[in-house]
Amino acid sequence: MLQPFTRVLDLGTGDIAPENRLVRRRLSDMRGAYAEDCDGAQVVYEVFNIDVPETNSELQTCTTRLYNGKVGDEYFMTKGHFHEVRDRSEVYLTTSGYGRLVMATEDGRYAIEEMRPGSMNYIPGGWSHRSVNVADEPLVFFAAYIGDSGHDYGSIEERGFPVLVVEGPSGPEVVPNPRY
Ligand code: F6R
Ligand code: ZN
Repeated sequence: MLQPFTRVLDLGTGDIAPENRLVRRRLSDMRGAYAEDCDGAQVVYEVFNIDVPETNSELQTCTTRLYNGKVGDEYFMTKGHFHEVRDRSEVYLTTSGYGRLVMATEDGRYAIEEMRPGSMNYIPGGWSHRSVNVADEPLVFFAAYIGDSGHDYGSIEERGFPVLVVEGPSGPEVVPNPRY
């Protein structure tokens, strides 16, 4: 049995004190995710994790700080994934910034939900998910998901999502993904 514990989350930056593990993804880690080529050391996002055993009796929790920027007309976004155990659900709580949560099922249905301070997005089992930062400031959100969920990035790397969120003349637009 785990010992109870407390962590302190900075709602503005997403920093967790003390954090157990930091994942940092740079443009060079995002190659293939955008229609245009991208490369380089610029950081696209960071994930601050609190590590607990990866079992279905615990909840994994973390925050994501997704920086603002674009590759071509596509906004900075997370890689996106299905949970390896497909029916595992997740909740996101946005604490700072503005974005879109793009979700899709394996049979090609999709859903887009808004992310803004206070949004609680529920991601049911079976839906892949990717966050997109549509503003000029970092998007920060807290996530909680079932401990044994795992992450399957391969399916998204191969196929992408059915739609893309791009910058249009009057703001964010959802367009079909020609490579899906
Ligand atoms: C965990 C989850 C988020 C993401 C994070 C980074 O299941 O959905 O914590 O892991 O926002 O995105 P990915 O994992 O797609 O690189
Ligand atoms: Zn997830």
